[in-house]
Amino acid sequence: MAFLSFPEGFQWGVATASYQIEGAVQEDDRGVTIWDTFVRQPGKVQNGDTGDVACDHYHRFREDVELMASLGIQTYRFSLAWARIYPFGRGAVNEKGLAFYDRLFDALLEKNIQPAVTLYHWDLPQALQDLGGWTNREVVEAFAAYAKTAFDRFGDRVTRWITLNEPIVFTEMGHRTGVMAPGMRDIGAYSRAIHHALLAHGRAVQVFREGGYRGEIGITNANTFYEPADDAPETAAAVERARDFDTRLFHGPVFGKGYPASVVKHFAERGVPLPIQPGDMEVIATPTDFLGVNLYSRALIQPANNSVGFTYAPPRLPLLPMGYEAAPHALGAFVRWVSNEYGRPRIYITENGVCDNTEPDANGVIDDVTRQELLRGFLAGLHGAIADGCDVRAYYQWSLMDNFEWAFGYSKRFGIVYTDYRTLARIPKKSAEMYADIIRRNGLEA
Ligand code: NOJ
Repeated sequence: MAFLSFPEGFQWGVATASYQIEGAVQEDDRGVTIWDTFVRQPGKVQNGDTGDVACDHYHRFREDVELMASLGIQTYRFSLAWARIYPFGRGAVNEKGLAFYDRLFDALLEKNIQPAVTLYHWDLPQALQDLGGWTNREVVEAFAAYAKTAFDRFGDRVTRWITLNEPIVFTEMGHRTGVMAPGMRDIGAYSRAIHHALLAHGRAVQVFREGGYRGEIGITNANTFYEPADDAPETAAAVERARDFDTRLFHGPVFGKGYPASVVKHFAERGVPLPIQPGDMEVIATPTDFLGVNLYSRALIQPANNSVGFTYAPPRLPLLPMGYEAAPHALGAFVRWVSNEYGRPRIYITENGVCDNTEPDANGVIDDVTRQELLRGFLAGLHGAIADGCDVRAYYQWSLMDNFEWAFGYSKRFGIVYTDYRTLARIPKKSAEMYADIIRRNGLEA
């Protein structure tokens, strides 16, 4: 065991997202979102759970800010609900929605907690979905206008902006596999959603630059660290294909490297080419200030005779309740990979965490040992990557508290704070104590 000290100025945070914690879905003229619609379709969400109340953060945000302050949290990543600000996605702006976030920003700044704001964490206004949502190019300008409103109104207090959260997830699972809102199963819709999401990101960055706002802007991608199931050269090639269809698909265009050729070909051959218009790739590649990295696990890859040329090999590490492997080495390994691939960008770990469903014991103590153990492993790996020269400046633990885990409803707990869904009490788990200690010491024994 050694003490692993993080660089001076390294920031420690927690992350959440609007639909997963806010509740109050009909309050203060908030518009309907695709998740409000999706959760009402039978069989889409486990146990028929909805985000109608969630953690009731909309009414309890002051308590939540206090909680963060008591843990020593330095920065808080959360998302704005587009439909609170523009109930119909565009058109008339809703002052009451803006006012809620004003109150939240002020409460955070009073406690010296730096906000990091995600503009889009999957809750598209239903009115835009009715026009085709991400499959319709019109959504791009609606997003740019919404982003501008957020920069104008909150730019005096927010200096860290994230355009989109995990576009691979909301495009693929929302449009191709249909397990998330809006629940489509259409490869053409998927192809269009990919390109429009990236274009929306690029337009928001342009608007940010043109407006001369203070601070920094970037995108957050979802990542899995892909590893070969064996040493065969074909397996190494399959790993590269997996990276093309997931990692490079959303990083390549942002970093000016374009879409991977294999992916362009894949969509074209199926008669659903990416709908690229002249000038789009330049817009998408508008330089960003940082890369947001979300990472939870790794996957073993093997070659396959299917349309993408790879498949998952059987897992070898213990499985977490989400069905993926407990792979703490994946964070440092992925950060090294992405750092090399894209010219050592500034990186924020915008999400990393563990699903651990430990319940309170007879004394009300929640000793989430799996989370604590993996957190130690993830951070040790990250420390190694930083020591090797990767420019990682912040780490956000997902999540502050247990919340609505999308299609899994409330059945999966990711919080370092326990949410009692009957009383809505928040109870810090052992991992919260551990995290507070890491923050205090700016490092950990591992
Ligand atoms: C990814 C998503 O951004 C977040 O919404 C989700 O709850 C966590 N990871 C955990 O699965």
